[in-house]
Order: sequence, then C-alpha cells, then structure tokens
Amino acid sequence: MKFSFDNATEIHFGQGQIAQIAEAIPPGAKVLLTYGGGSIKQNGVYDQVVAALSQHQWGEFSGIEANPQYDTLMAAVAMIRQEGYDYLLAVGGGSVVDGTKFLSVAAPFQGEDPWAILAEGISSQGALPLGCVLTLPATGSESNIAAVVSRGGSKLFFYDRRVRPKFAVLDPSVTLSLSPRQVANGVVDAYVHVMEQYLTYPVHAKVQDRFAEGLLLTLMEEGPKALEQPDDLTVRSNLMWAATMALNGLIGAGVPQDWTTHMIGHELTALYGVDHARSLSIMLPAVMWERREAKRAKLLQYARRVHGITDGAEDARVQGAIEATVAFFRHMGVPTSLSEAEIGPEAVEQVLANLKAHGREAMGEHGDIGLQQCRAILESAL
Ligand code: NZQ
Ligand code: ZN
Repeated sequence: MKFSFDNATEIHFGQGQIAQIAEAIPPGAKVLLTYGGGSIKQNGVYDQVVAALSQHQWGEFSGIEANPQYDTLMAAVAMIRQEGYDYLLAVGGGSVVDGTKFLSVAAPFQGEDPWAILAEGISSQGALPLGCVLTLPATGSESNIAAVVSRGGSKLFFYDRRVRPKFAVLDPSVTLSLSPRQVANGVVDAYVHVMEQYLTYPVHAKVQDRFAEGLLLTLMEEGPKALEQPDDLTVRSNLMWAATMALNGLIGAGVPQDWTTHMIGHELTALYGVDHARSLSIMLPAVMWERREAKRAKLLQYARRVHGITDGAEDARVQGAIEATVAFFRHMGVPTSLSEAEIGPEAVEQVLANLKAHGREAMGEHGDIGLQQCRAILESAL
C-alpha cells in the first residue's frame, strides 16, 4: 500500500454552526454566495447565512440546478469577473457545491472556454477559495476535490486539489426540510460511494475495509429510520457524517477503486434525467452481478461482514449479498432496474454510444471493463 493523504477542509458540525462562517471567511474577502432553486429561503438557511455574513462584503447568484449546467454557471463566471468576487460560498446540495467548484477555476481561466477543464482535463491558471454550507448529505463534495458539471448530453467531472472547500458547515437540522426522495437519494449515493471504493479485490487494507463496512452498516441502519422517523435529528446527524466520510478520501486511500457504476450512471442522468442516486441504484446490482468473478473475494467479505451471510456455498453467498443490496435499495424506495425507471432496451445502445464518446472504455479496478462488458451490464440492468 502506498498513498499520500490530506483533507484540509475544516468541518463545523452541529446545530447552529452556520454562524461559524463569520470567522471562517477572511475579513477582507468579497464573497459570492451561490445557491440553487430556493430551498434555502424556505428552511431558514438563507437567513442564517446572511446574518453570518453581516461583516462581509457580499453578493449572490441563485438558480444553480440539480446536475449543474455549464450555461448557468457561465453566467456566474461573468458576474464574478465583472464584480470582482474573490471568495465563493456555496449553500446547498452537491450540485451547488460542484457548480461552485467549477466557478472557482472557471473564473480565473485564461483559455478560450473553461469547458476544457472538464472535456480536456486542462488545469486552470488560478482557483478562487471556496467554503460551503451543505444542505443535502450525499455526494461528499463538501470536503473532496471532485466536481461534476453537465452540458447538453455530456455529464463530465474534473478533479482539482485547489477546489477542495476550505471549510464546510454540516448542520444536520437543515436536512430536516429534505423530501423523502432526496433523503433516500442521499443515503443511496453515499452507500454506492463506499461500494465503489470497497468492492474490488483484497489488498489487506484492514483500516479502509473496516471503516467502509462501518459506513455501510450505519447507512443501512439509519437510512430507513430517516424515512420512518423524519424528525429524528440523531439519525440525520449520523447520516450526514457518514456521507461526508464516504467520499472524503479516507476509505479510498491506497486501495483499488471501481467507479463503473458512477460512469454508467452519469450517462443515464445525462440522457434520461434520472436522479444521480437512482442511476446508481439501477446500475450497481448489475455491476455486482456481471463482475462477480473478479470481485468474488470482496463480495464474500461484504456478504459476511455487512449482511451477516455466512452459510451456504460461495455462489449462493455472492448471490445473497447482491440480493441483500437490492433489498436495501428497495427499502429506500429507489429503482433497481432500468424498467422500474421507465427506461426501455433502447438505452443500451444510447448509453454505449455516450460511453464511447466520453472515452470510458477501460473502466473498473482492473481497467478491463470495455464496451462489451458494459453491454452485458446494461442488459443485466434492464
Ligand atoms: O435547488 P434547491 O432549491 O436547493 O433544491 C435542491 C434540489 O432540488 C434540494 N435540496 C437540497 N437541500 C435541501 C433541498 N430541499 C429541501 N431542503 C434541503 N435542505 O434537493 C435537490 C437536489 O439537490 P442536488 O444538489 O442536486 O443533490 P445532490 O446533493 O444529490 O447532488 C447531486 C450532484 O452531485 C454530483 C451528481 O452527479 C449530481 O450532479 N456528484 C458529485 C460528487 C462529488 N463532487 O464528489 C460525487 C457524486 O458521485 C456525484 O456524482
Ligand atoms: Zn455519487
């Protein structure tokens, strides 16, 4: 095992922590507050943020949509350049945080079109610092270096260490206003983040494995409770911290990773508008099934340690682990096949064409998932 690990995001966790913004942002900064479609105005988050910014010079940009769109974000880039903002404050879910990460590098970008940051992996000449107030536990974007932006039929990601938020406010009470659909989506997204870093092959990374299993168990235990007891703040607290830990670099340090489910899922969202988490709950069982030989050892470990499946032949335990995963997703109310999401067999060719166009022809922990494997996975997900 060999890795470098850092996660410099300062986390302010707990009720009332939005007030920390006042200290967390440097006093002389000119702050652009970014947010989405207005949920923060209904649940009191906006008012708390405005109160915390009382000593700062600031402006705002709203309307960053779910699966943030390049065109929307470019309007914010123009605003930043024109009005000279030098600090960004994202207030919302993963889409607002991701969109704001793009603003961070797109505003100082000196090339012709900042889309090149996503499409060609070109690094920007600069990056504006950003902080965030997370309102939807799911993506881990609040303390990682990734961002996903969409333009037409392309949903692409970039990584840049400079866009890791300087701080993240995680106040679980702000998640009480989430719809059951968004609660379920968040739990499932976090679960799949753990799976993509865990369900590969053994490398004797005991710490990463057991942290990952702990997160899976927590998500399985608390996820349904969040739907059944929507006012329970303790449940929301555990879910919020689990989602952050699921994709902040810790459990993925030095271990093989997969991400096939996400790559195929992003194409489903780009083509059919499926919610991000639902694209994953549709694809993960198919990936597990089609890759069951390559993942056999970890599937057996997952069966035993996460689902308590210890009896029977190996094949039966592997199948049991996949079925238990599907049962958990169903319990959370998300689809586990394309047909449940009302997507027909024509999706197979369409998704394959997009995967090819985006160069996703060597995915998986062994880099051996090409278009042929993807076809089998998609057919298995029908
Ligand atoms: O726009 P508003 O009005 O705020 O409403 C949002 C949005 O409609 C609403 N919402 C958020 N917090 C709320 C709330 N409603 C009521 N109360 C609250 N407290 O929820 C809706 C969905 O929000 P969104 O930000 O789109 O959801 P999520 O956090 O799931 O983010 C999804 C995006 O993150 C990307 C996905 O691809 C997708 O674009 N991802 C980013 C990753 C990363 N940066 O590391 C990794 C992930 O795998 C993922 O790909
Ligand atoms: Zn995800």
